[in-house]
Amino acid sequence: MKRIGMLTSGGDCQALNAAMRGVVKTMMNSDEQVEIYGFLEGYRGLIYGNYRMLKSSDFSGILTKGGTILGSSRTPFKTITDPDENGLDKVKAMKQNYYNLNLDCLVILGGNGTHKTANLLRKEGLNVVTLPKTIDNDLYGTDMTFGFQSAVDIATACIDCIHTTAASHGRVFIVEVMGHKVGWLTLNAGMASGADIILIPEIPYDIKKVAEAIENRKKNGSRFTILAVAEGAISKEDAKLSKKEYQKKLKESKYPSISYEVAAQIQELTGEEVRVTVPGHTQRGGSPCPYDRVFASRLGSEAAKLILDGEYGFMVGYKNREIVKVPLEEVAGKLKYVSPDASIVKEAKMLGISFGD
Ligand code: F6P
Repeated sequence: MKRIGMLTSGGDCQALNAAMRGVVKTMMNSDEQVEIYGFLEGYRGLIYGNYRMLKSSDFSGILTKGGTILGSSRTPFKTITDPDENGLDKVKAMKQNYYNLNLDCLVILGGNGTHKTANLLRKEGLNVVTLPKTIDNDLYGTDMTFGFQSAVDIATACIDCIHTTAASHGRVFIVEVMGHKVGWLTLNAGMASGADIILIPEIPYDIKKVAEAIENRKKNGSRFTILAVAEGAISKEDAKLSKKEYQKKLKESKYPSISYEVAAQIQELTGEEVRVTVPGHTQRGGSPCPYDRVFASRLGSEAAKLILDGEYGFMVGYKNREIVKVPLEEVAGKLKYVSPDASIVKEAKMLGISFGD
């Protein structure tokens, strides 16, 4: 008999349900008896003992369903060891609930912050297996996270739509793409949709170069320009500021996000009419794309295999086209950035895409 606790933590994404289904179906198809406890709303459920015992029917029909049947929440790692407002020791409470239910293992689906806490629980002696979710694809130790390809599809579709209206009106359009501190989503959606300029956090931009790229297009007969701008994009000037100084600048800025600042600067430098579109959380919503359904199912299945074999303390990841197990201590606390020297960046530049650098 294996008693498994499961939770989804942090920002949701597509294919969380597909991944959980993959774990449970594989466990239930094995010779092992299995009991599944679903903790509700991420680590919050584990802290406050808020869980539901799940049956195989709970996992039926969810392969194509977005969101998470368990709900999610953000429980910041930086305050995880602080007592809650009633003085409760959160780490102790999580351990207590694990032991009270006599669990063999926790299956934790999450991104960066989630993995820091998962690693802490591992260090505290709990058996943990994790699965890499996030539309940002910024998790260290895996080439791909589930949710990413679905988000690329949505951001690409958004830029495709903008393309036609931009062409009709001869305007400059900025589409702001999610991705937190990294540019994977913007780079891939930008290339997939034929964006002319791509701004990502890893390659700080010079606004004059951005304006120059727009003017060059105009000189060459193009009536419109599309920019895919990462929500975390940063100018060369701002990249020189300390973290504290930059945060102060953002706080005091009159613009709701970086795209609006870039738009105002382009307008001033080129005289062009600029519009901003922010698809926002639509990028995390809806049904997972076929790639993510297959990918998340495979990861889930391999996670179940680890549990059946009694192997704990790993994230199930994807490296060089193989599903691999990565020790949690190698994953926690690190981000996977786009390298400015990556071949995809070089190829994008050879295609004529400007990064404003
Ligand atoms: O990490 C996923 C993500 O969607 C990021 O791309 C984005 O910066 C952030 O979450 C938004 O967070 P929230 O849903 O808390 O607004």
